[in-house]
Amino acid sequence: VSLFAASASAQTYPERSITMVVPFSAGGPTDTVARLVAESMSKDLGQQIIVENVGGAGGTLGAGRVAQADPDGYTILLHHIGMATSATLYRKLAYDTLNAFEYVGLVTEVPMTIVARKDFEPTDLKGLIEYAKANKDTVTVANAGIGAASHLCGMMFMSAIETPLTTVPYKGTGPAMTDLLGGQVDIMCDQTTNTTKQIQGGTIKAYATTSPKRLKIFPDLPTAEEAGLKGFQVGIWHGVYAPKGTPADVTDRLSKSLQKALKDENVAARFAELGTEPSSEADATPAALKAKLESEIARWKPVIEAAGQYAD
Ligand code: MLT
Repeated sequence: VSLFAASASAQTYPERSITMVVPFSAGGPTDTVARLVAESMSKDLGQQIIVENVGGAGGTLGAGRVAQADPDGYTILLHHIGMATSATLYRKLAYDTLNAFEYVGLVTEVPMTIVARKDFEPTDLKGLIEYAKANKDTVTVANAGIGAASHLCGMMFMSAIETPLTTVPYKGTGPAMTDLLGGQVDIMCDQTTNTTKQIQGGTIKAYATTSPKRLKIFPDLPTAEEAGLKGFQVGIWHGVYAPKGTPADVTDRLSKSLQKALKDENVAARFAELGTEPSSEADATPAALKAKLESEIARWKPVIEAAGQYAD
């Protein structure tokens, strides 16, 4: 009976609109990625994918909502690296990260940039590191709240330079950037989806990108590695998930559709403007996302434990 039900669902799925939960606010970096992909997937699936923003608690509220949803393919989740880091950051998660979801595939990996308010003294990354070490009691690091990409990158930065600095958590990327632009806070490490326009406009200064290679949009900006931080790499990867128990033929249908969307010229062009590119077809698969989630939980656990910054 279940086999019959499964194949019947694949033939007719989707019969109505699908809700894609984004666990951050509308207009932010994750939402931007989700809406581009959802629009393209909607065309392929012949049904609307409606993005619903369920922000709060570093993405864990939205993920929790999807973990509880009916496993019928009509509620899915697009989440970033926070899916992995929250497993350590949050001591009381309402779901078991590795057992509450089915996997659809990886979407993209957004690089980060280490940036500062426009008039901040250091002129390059080496200078920033020296300045931060000499002024560790006064240098402030903005982030978009515990579990945000900027929080993770900030932790990684402080750990790499072995210097704890004062962190200033904001309610989201928008207010964090506003204060950086206004000069109320000194530095931030944030996603290119959030920093590109400001760097191009000269309203903030950029020291380095956290990607392994220089970015096409900023060919003169060194990688952190080139600029003196050996091994410093942070990429904000995104994945699409479904609640545990969603039939495999439904998640396969979603994977195929995701793969198609990632080859959509319009999606690739918009990603390029944001400093990123679509994941490969091989990565936009359930197996690749599962492997990434597992390896990233293991990679971040010691970094978070060393920083000792947990959320309750
Ligand atoms: C967002 O979309 O608000 C961000 O991706 C949050 C973050 O900085 O992690």
